[in-house]
Order: sequence, then C-alpha cells, then structure tokens
Amino acid sequence: MAKINNNFLKLKAGYLFPEIARRVNAFAEANSDANIIRLGIGDVTEPLPEACRTAMIKAVEEMGDRSTFKGYGPEQGYAWLREKIALHDFQSRGCEVDASEIFISDGSKCDTGNILDIFGNDNAIAVTDPVYPVYVDTNVMAGHTGAANDKGEFEGLVYLPITAENNFTAEIPDRKIDLIYLCFPNNPTGATASKEHLKAWVDYAKSHNSIIFFDAAYEAFITDSEIPHSIYEIEGARDCAIEFRSFSKNVGFTGTRCALTVVPKTLKAKAADGSDVELWKLWNRRQSTKFNGVSYIVQRGAEAIYSEEGLAQTQALVKFYMENAKIIREQLTAAGLQVYGGVNAPYVWVKTPNNLSSWDFFDKLLQTVNVVGTPGSGFGAAGEGYFRISAFNSRENVEEAMKRITEKFKM
Ligand code: MLT
Repeated sequence: MAKINNNFLKLKAGYLFPEIARRVNAFAEANSDANIIRLGIGDVTEPLPEACRTAMIKAVEEMGDRSTFKGYGPEQGYAWLREKIALHDFQSRGCEVDASEIFISDGSKCDTGNILDIFGNDNAIAVTDPVYPVYVDTNVMAGHTGAANDKGEFEGLVYLPITAENNFTAEIPDRKIDLIYLCFPNNPTGATASKEHLKAWVDYAKSHNSIIFFDAAYEAFITDSEIPHSIYEIEGARDCAIEFRSFSKNVGFTGTRCALTVVPKTLKAKAADGSDVELWKLWNRRQSTKFNGVSYIVQRGAEAIYSEEGLAQTQALVKFYMENAKIIREQLTAAGLQVYGGVNAPYVWVKTPNNLSSWDFFDKLLQTVNVVGTPGSGFGAAGEGYFRISAFNSRENVEEAMKRITEKFKM
C-alpha cells in the first residue's frame, strides 16, 4: 500500500479558519434566525476597485480575440506588472529591488509555505508566538519538527513570545537561528516594527548568516509615516531577507488571487558541500517547475491599481477598512476592554474580559451576541486569553457588532 507523508499526522485536526467556520456553521444550522456577523477570518467584503474591474474586462476581451489571445505567461509574472511593482512599491521608498527579483504568485500564504522547498531540513527555525499558523503548519508538513506538546508547540521550532510587555515585537534571540519568520504589520496582533527593530533583526541575520522571511501582506494599512513598509528599507536586508506581499487585503483580491515574493539576487545560503548558492536561482527553478504563473486577466487587474485612478481607489478601500478598525478599537476601549493594534493594521487584538479563555470568549460571543472573531490561542500558546477582531466587513456590520459586544461586555 502507498505510504502517506506521516508529518501530516502531527498537525492539529483542522486549520484554524476552517475550524472556526465549522463551529459557526453548526451554530447557524441550529439557530437559523441568528444574524451572525463575521469578524473572524480576514476576508474582504467590499467590491474590487473599478480600475481593476475595467482592466480585467478588457483583458477578457483580449482573450476572446485570436490576435490578442495569450497562452502560458512567464512563470515569474509579466514584466509590465513586475516593473510597476518595483517602481511604486519599492524604488519609490528607496529600496533597491529590481523587477527581475519580483515573482508574481497566487498568494503570499502559498508562497510562505512553498518557499520551504528551496531550504534544507536541518535549519534552526524561529516563529513568533502568537503567529500566522501557516508558517508553523508548513514546517510541520515538511518534516522540520517533532510532535506537538500539550500547548500545541512543536518540538524543534523556536517560539519567540510576543506579548503586551514587549509591544508584540520579539526579542532578538540569543542563539543561532537560520530561518526567521517576521510579519509586520503583524497578523494577529496588529503590532508594527520600527526601523530600529527591523535593523536589529537585519544585523542579527547578517551576523548569523540567517534568512528572514518577511511577510508584509498588510503593509498598505500602515498609517504612521515613520514605520517601514518593506524590510528592504533597512540597509543590508538584500543580503538576508525574502519579502512576501499580497494584493488580497488592500485591493480586495482574496478571491481574485495575486501576490508577490521578492528574492534579491544578492541573497545566498549554503549547499551541503559548504558552497554559497543564490536563492534567486533556486526559487526561479522551483517556480518554473511547479507553477505556471497567475492568469493574464488577474495580472492586468493588479497592474491597474498602479494607475492614477487605481491608486486612489485602493487608498479609499484601505481607508474604509481602517475606519472600521478605528470604530472597533474606540468602542471596545470605551467599554473597558484592553485593546491593541488596529492603528496600522486591520486587526484589533483584544484581551478577553474576566480572564476567559480565548475559545470560551469565542463561544460566548457567538452564542450571546452572534459575533464571530478569532480565538488568540489559535495563533499559538501565548495568544491564550486574547481574541482577534478583523476590520474586514461592511460599516453597518462593524457598527452593529460593536453595539452588541459593548452592551453585553461593558466592564
Ligand atoms: C487571516 O484571517 O489571518 C487571514 O485572512 C488569513 C490569510 O490571509 O490567509
């Protein structure tokens, strides 16, 4: 009989968000008249910017005409999209990123998992706790860990606690780590990293020959002009960091799918024989073999956000969600809850009232006020006693959810 990848058996039964959906669906089935408001998974609700839609409609028309029809595109993405990204998202902020170092993909969730294909099995790997669960689960699947303990921590991973005491930014480790996952603005806590904090990581990575996986999927939500949007704003990062970005949240592409990963050509890691190997070449080889690129239509949609109208429409979308975040933050604070994040990120990280566990608070909210959030413990042991509320929903739903929560949980 064929054998499975046994590492999958180490994983918790369900990925966090499907598990939440399962509980919510069960509740909805048993309570068909409940008006459930979903502020759990960070899934966007507002329509795509008009500039994107217009560009995609035009691209569909091109696909319907033999003279403009497109077959396979470049696995790395079309040059016209990569050049716009390089210019607008990186070079305009002083980052030395060339279009050829940008790889267009169908999601930064996929890429943060897939990137492990080009790394060996004996790296010391650090994640923050709490953390976006994909970083942990993909390492478990790849066989980089042992079993999980009672707290759900996997043997072999180094967990760096991020707590209110350290402003949800991890201490620089006092041991050698080879691969470090950082996510700023942070999912789930909504925290950000200052230039000084990122510089400390870059200095650490350079002195230990480590690689930083920098997940910047939420950079568009930064409102404070002092906060870096890219790790490449820090000198030396080209030699130690891979950056992941996404069009999912700022442009509303969670269902449309488009993202990008930057692998600088200067970035190297060691082969088994001790020689240095360029990671760009390996990632290019990986993508050319396992990926056929994002559809032409979607890439045209993504390109359109860099037009004058596209930029304005995207900014309006981001502003809309950040106003939701402000409403959530202010109303929960006024009700006496301890609240973090939501200023430079679309997530608000809330201390659960009356020392309720994260899942108990989840159940209470769902059952008493029919509002769904995400239990902090689902992001790691140090998330216990916290709860994440997403700003991705209509204004009406956010206001209604806050009214219901604050009436019920006023401290
Ligand atoms: C989240 O809610 O954390 C995100 O939607 C997950 C994701 O982007 O994959």
